[in-house]
Amino acid sequence: MSEQSRRPRRPAKPYRRPQKDPVRVLAFEALRAVDERDAYANLVLPPLLRKARENGDFDGRDAALATELVYGTLRRQGTYDAIIAECVDRPLREVDPPVLDVLSLGVHQLLGTRIPSHAAVSASVELARVVLGDGRAKFVNAVLRKVAQDDLDGWIAKVAPPYDQDPEDHLAVVHSHPRWVVSALWDSLGGGRAGIEELLAADNERPEVTLVARPGRATTEELLGEEAAVPGHWSPYAVRLSEGGEPGAITAVQEGRAGVQDEGSQLVALALANVPVEGPDGKWLDGCAGPGGKAALLAALAAERGAVLLASEKQPHRAGLVGKALHGNPGPYQVIAADGTRPPWRPGSFDRVLVDVPCTGLGALRRRPEARWRRRPEDLDNFGPLQRALLRTAIDSVRVGGVVGYATCSPHLAETRAVVQDVLKQRPETELVDARPLLPGVPELGEGPDVQLWPHVHGTDAMYLALIRRTG
Ligand SMILES: C[S@@+](CC[C@H](N)C(=O)[O-])C[C@H]1O[C@@H](n2cnc3c(N)ncnc32)[C@H](O)[C@@H]1O
Repeated sequence: MSEQSRRPRRPAKPYRRPQKDPVRVLAFEALRAVDERDAYANLVLPPLLRKARENGDFDGRDAALATELVYGTLRRQGTYDAIIAECVDRPLREVDPPVLDVLSLGVHQLLGTRIPSHAAVSASVELARVVLGDGRAKFVNAVLRKVAQDDLDGWIAKVAPPYDQDPEDHLAVVHSHPRWVVSALWDSLGGGRAGIEELLAADNERPEVTLVARPGRATTEELLGEEAAVPGHWSPYAVRLSEGGEPGAITAVQEGRAGVQDEGSQLVALALANVPVEGPDGKWLDGCAGPGGKAALLAALAAERGAVLLASEKQPHRAGLVGKALHGNPGPYQVIAADGTRPPWRPGSFDRVLVDVPCTGLGALRRRPEARWRRRPEDLDNFGPLQRALLRTAIDSVRVGGVVGYATCSPHLAETRAVVQDVLKQRPETELVDARPLLPGVPELGEGPDVQLWPHVHGTDAMYLALIRRTG
């Protein structure tokens, strides 16, 4: 018998069951759903939170923390991946996705929140024990201890290429956007480093909740009576809810007299409604209406002027949402499911036409934390022909003297100016109308005649609008 085997054995550490922290487990489940099923965080999270509240696992603060952990981790994924890659000894693609999710959640707690380091590491290791098992929890522990050795700025200095060497790659890592998105946003924004940095930083902020008081149905005065409500920046119908405001609890929202709507979207609808048209002004069309935010504002404005809105949407279930959004409108309207590239209405039927076309949504990255990682440059090849076709039919649908509004919630030049220029080149019977005077009081709208809004300048989504009059 060896010397060693005769020594009294140290008693084995008693096995401790991992502690299940409902907030972290829920955040992990949400990240897995986004990863595995291509789910949207803003759709996955509410039912998970509701269930946790019903089970008595959660209070309001837990829900806020879980939401912050999911949204923050998804937004900052690009930066966190670069940091994790420095701390593991194999390529990230060889790390199991659930392990990577636990690591990213841990890195976010360490570098993106005020949670103390030791608590962030131990909570992540407990989570790993619950959802991955004890073996992989050790790996998580080792990686997070390395990450905890520095703060976010220190890590960025280590993992981001220097700005002077590769500005786009640098910004992509620092502000957690895919490089191609940085490049596209910069092309559209123009200017130097400061502007693009502000824009990318704004994309990583949670947007305020903005309400619209639908004219003739609710007033901003009524909404301003709500807790935490302040006037909008630009739209006369907008009211902003500061942190903690709960739109679903507001009576006017429950009754559909008001809705949740970004001010950029309100401005697009208002500009189209207010652009002068010669002659009759009784027939308005929204050719891509689902889910109905702009249509509801247009329909309310149309009602005030004795005009009728036809809201058309290709997807029947989204047409159903438009019907719900317009329900209770004080004036007449119609909702149909129709393909806007092969419309059932006669050419030249409308005085005002909006086409808010399907797009990459690169102007609304604040709202959809995972969207930037899902989009591919190839998506532009799919949207381009559809956007052109929808704009062409919109021009066919408006009468001579009437106006078409072409809108996107993307500032990508391939979806904005390129589409408008291409289509107008083949349509000599059209002219661009200066949209800037139709957004009174809104600064920094560029040289026109089209307008591009920006999150970091206007606090809105990056909506684009070109107004096109049919002249012959
Ligand atoms: C950007 S969204 C419109 C958002 C809407 N204006 C609002 O404010 O709620 C584009 C819509 O166009 C619809 N769409 C896509 N292809 C279409 C087509 N060929 N004809 C009509 N609508 C189409 C999509 O289903 C989607 O609902």
